[in-house]
Order: sequence, then structure tokens, then C-alpha cells
Amino acid sequence: MEKSNNTVFTPGKIGSLVLRNRTIRTGAFEGMTPDGIPSAALVEHHRQVAAGGVGLTTVAYCSTSLDGLTFPHQMHIRDEILPGLEKLTHAVHAEGAAASLQIGHAGYFASRAAMGQKPIGASKVFNLYTLTYPRPMTTEDFGRLTDDFVKAALAAKQVGFDAIELHFGHGYLLNQFLSPYTNRRKDKWGGSLENRLRFPLEIVRQVRKAVGPDFGLLAKTNLEDGFKRGLQLEEAIEVSKALEAEGVDALVLSGGFVSKTPFYMMRGELPIKEMARNEKKFFRRMGLKLFGRLLVQKYHFEEMFFLEAAKEVRRAVKLPLVLLGGIRSLANMQQAMQAGFDFVALGRPLILEPDLINKMAAGETSASLCEPCNLCVAQMEAGGIRCVHPQLGKPD
Ligand SMILES: Cc1cc2nc3c(=O)[nH]c(=O)nc-3n(C[C@H](O)[C@H](O)[C@H](O)COP(=O)(O)O)c2cc1C
Repeated sequence: MEKSNNTVFTPGKIGSLVLRNRTIRTGAFEGMTPDGIPSAALVEHHRQVAAGGVGLTTVAYCSTSLDGLTFPHQMHIRDEILPGLEKLTHAVHAEGAAASLQIGHAGYFASRAAMGQKPIGASKVFNLYTLTYPRPMTTEDFGRLTDDFVKAALAAKQVGFDAIELHFGHGYLLNQFLSPYTNRRKDKWGGSLENRLRFPLEIVRQVRKAVGPDFGLLAKTNLEDGFKRGLQLEEAIEVSKALEAEGVDALVLSGGFVSKTPFYMMRGELPIKEMARNEKKFFRRMGLKLFGRLLVQKYHFEEMFFLEAAKEVRRAVKLPLVLLGGIRSLANMQQAMQAGFDFVALGRPLILEPDLINKMAAGETSASLCEPCNLCVAQMEAGGIRCVHPQLGKPD
């Protein structure tokens, strides 16, 4: 399993897809899709990341349908977004990188403002994030959502994406099925892990059947949800094995649950004040201002914060694994390769320096300058993500 230190800048395979190196720009919602339509800024953002050296860039969250959005200004699969996405894949390919589209459904924390109705979910569990109870999914919903995932995957393939990343983590709908906290169903979709896996695996099966064996199929999964009654590592390992058996090409290992532990996946500072300032909805803004620090937990940042948990998955499966979370230096990347991971994914460092990978490959730098201030997170709702760290970024 040991790999040489030079592996980072050598090609790697995800299914039939060959990436020029082992680095990936992870899905980080760009906030560059006003009215849910990809903008020129989104295309330029990913072009820059591609020109900056990554092997694969991931366009963040695209919902399979209107009722799966977390922000009203997010994309959901429909004809209007396809020309913009096609421009994006062309721009990324012209810079020598591959492109992936992150596809998911927000389930019980979907934005009511975006869809104008109660969110759907696995079970009727109160959601503090949007202050609602979801409507538990019916037989009809299962069929429609599976079809929507298939349509989304086919649309991504049609506009030139090399791969898709199905969102099985961060508390999104498929994670809500896996997690015992949100899935309290008594039918064949709930209870045992086998039952909780049924719907997520059905989606993988149908998507794979539709896109064919050669299209890249990644899944972003949780190593742990980050709270007591959520999915724990032991079951996450079983989920990884099931996804491997179902034909997923690679797993992107993450953690955290947007509606419960939103900063578990990022760690570092809490930009509550900045998020409240940018939040357009009055009550949520007031809630964030008054109770933000009580509701949102802070997690200590350290480099490679998912490494130890991810190693447990590495021991259990053979498919390519992507390590993410606090990858900040070439030494971190090399350590990941030596520990048997096939790829590393970076989020915040590439928001600050889109050309970090080229700089590392050229020996101009060995580490990112990024500090986990998380001020970029608040920019999702303020015109698009960028680094606004007072010293490092480009504040207004
Ligand atoms: C501004 C921002 C937006 C994010 N949006 C998403 C998202 O839409 N989907 C997702 O899976 N992860 C999202 N994430 C989490 C990242 O994919 C990644 O897991 C996290 O930032 C840790 O990696 P890093 O330490 O390299 O930044 C986001 C992160 C940031 C900073």
C-alpha cells in the first residue's frame, strides 16, 4: 500500500477516468449561481482552479430537484443551467483538468423559501436549522427522487462532466437515511443498517446503470456525523463497503451534519457575525445573531483532521479513497499517499490560492497560507466565495 513521495504529481485513476495528478478541488458551494443559474464568475472560478494545477475540480452542490436546495440561489438540474455548465466543463478541460458535479438532495433541511413547501425527509424529526418538521417520504417520493438522481447524472454527463459526486454525507438526504438520528422508519427503508442503506444503494444502482461503467462515479460520505445519535465510524465503514460493492469508483471521506454539526467538516473559527450580516432572512439572521454561538459548535482545527478515522476505512476497502479536511501542505499530501490514500481534496486553500498545486509542483511553495478563519463561508451568501481574511485575502 506504500507509495513513494512523488505520487502526488503522478496520474491516478477513478474508474476509467485518468486524472493528471492526485489533487482534487473539493465541492465548496461557490455562491456564484444567481437565480440558480451558473454565472460567468462560476466558470472563471473553476477555470482558474483548473489552470492552477488540480487533477479534478468539483462544482459544488447541485440539487436533483427544486425541493432539494439549501439556498434559493443554488442550482437544481433543469434545462436552463445546462449551457452554463457546458461552458464550465469546456473551460476546465481546456486547462487540462477534469470536472465533476456534486449532486444531492437536502431532504429535511431544504430551503422552504426556495420551494415554497414543507421539506421531505426520512422521518418526522425536528430540524433546528430550518425550524421545521419534514414530511416523511412516501413510496411515490422514492420513485421520483431516484428518477431525479438518474436525470441529474445523465445531464452532467451530457454537458461534459467527467464524473459526478453523489452526496451521501454532511447530513444531506442520503445521509439522513443512513443516520439513525434522522431515519426512524419502521418499514424496509429504516431500522437495520441494511434497511437504511436500501434507498442510497438503489440510487447508486440506477445511476450506474444509466451512465454506464466508464463514467466517473464518486460518493462523498461521512466518517462520522459528529454527534451522539448520528452515524458512527463503525457503521460508516460498513457503508463504505456497501458502496464499493455497488460499483462506486471512489469515496471522498468527510464528516459532519449541516443541521447539527455544520463546522465539524471544516473546523476552526466560527464566522457567526459575518454569516448573520449576510443572511437575507430576518428571523434566521436574528437567530444567528442571538444564539449562533450556542447553536453552532466550534471544533478545533488541526491539519489532516480526518486522517485517523479515514485510515479505518482504508483498511476495510480497496477502491480509491480521497482524503480531505485540513490538507495544507505537500508534506500532508505525501503523508496521505503513504497512508494508502489515492487522492487528496482541498477546499479553503484553493479559495485563497487557486494555483497552489502548480506552485507546489514547481517547488515555489510547500504549504498553503490559509488560516481556518472560515470567513470564506460567509461569502457564499455575499456574492461568491473568496478569501476575505484581513491579512491574506481581498477584503472589501
Ligand atoms: C465556503 C465553503 C463551502 C462549502 N460547501 C460545500 C458544499 O457545497 N458541499 C460539500 O460537500 N462540502 C462543502 N464544503 C466543505 C468542503 O468540501 C470541505 O469538506 C471542507 O472545507 C474541509 O476541507 P478544507 O480543510 O480543505 O477546506 C464547503 C466548505 C467551504 C469552506
